[in-house]
Amino acid sequence: MSRDHWDKNAANWAAWARKPGFDSYWQYAKTFFELVPPPGERTLEVGCGEGRVSRDLAARGHHVFAVDTSQTLIQLAHDTDASIAYVRCDAAALPFQGESFDLIVFYNSLMDFDDMDASVAEAGRVLRPGGAFCAAITHPLQDAGRFASRNAGAPFVIEGAYLGDRRVVDAELERDGLHMHFKGWAYPLEAYARAMENAGLMIQALREPAMDSASPSMDPSVERWRRIPVFLMWRAIKA
Ligand SMILES: C[S@@+](CC[C@H](N)C(=O)[O-])C[C@H]1O[C@@H](n2cnc3c(N)ncnc32)[C@H](O)[C@@H]1O
Repeated sequence: MSRDHWDKNAANWAAWARKPGFDSYWQYAKTFFELVPPPGERTLEVGCGEGRVSRDLAARGHHVFAVDTSQTLIQLAHDTDASIAYVRCDAAALPFQGESFDLIVFYNSLMDFDDMDASVAEAGRVLRPGGAFCAAITHPLQDAGRFASRNAGAPFVIEGAYLGDRRVVDAELERDGLHMHFKGWAYPLEAYARAMENAGLMIQALREPAMDSASPSMDPSVERWRRIPVFLMWRAIKA
């Protein structure tokens, strides 16, 4: 599902991701990079899209390899920074030798992969012992429900189930003339924790950043996100 979807929506995603200050990356990336260890010899970003996270890793001194299933997004990323090594492949079948990376980064991509468990297992395979796995995902709580209204104090309601099998997340957003159709999966937290456990990855640090209280916000729809986390971020270490 997800592979074709992202390639079809590549132009919309690139416009969305590249507009300065527009999406959540511009506010939340700072917390994520605090979890990222200093550069080792080789860093891999899985699900790189048009390449902004890989470029930010390279700017911090990482020697970056980046993979994605979308040929269009890989091409856009390459055209923007050819110093990064891009490979088109599936996260569940990485064309790299075992124990060949010091750091693997998944920024808002794990929940979009068709096979999350196999993708985490692959990361465990290609990481060196002692290497780090850093991920940011849509928070499983956020994916399980919705606010009853746009008011700052609106109740957050889970109508279905938080636990259980993964569910499809399908949302079309329109803002400031930009359009994006997001499609992926929602899992309970335990699904990610079990995938890490099975891959021999030990969670070392975990963050649930609140919407920045310094962000200019008279907009109640933004205010709500100071009570419920939008993202979950963590660093794990390969045993
Ligand atoms: C939300 S985008 C994130 C892009 C980038 N990490 C960022 O934060 O700007 C998710 C990316 O995952 C990629 N993707 C989806 N399924 C994949 C798979 N099975 N293997 C590798 N990449 C995949 C999509 O093509 C898309 O570029």
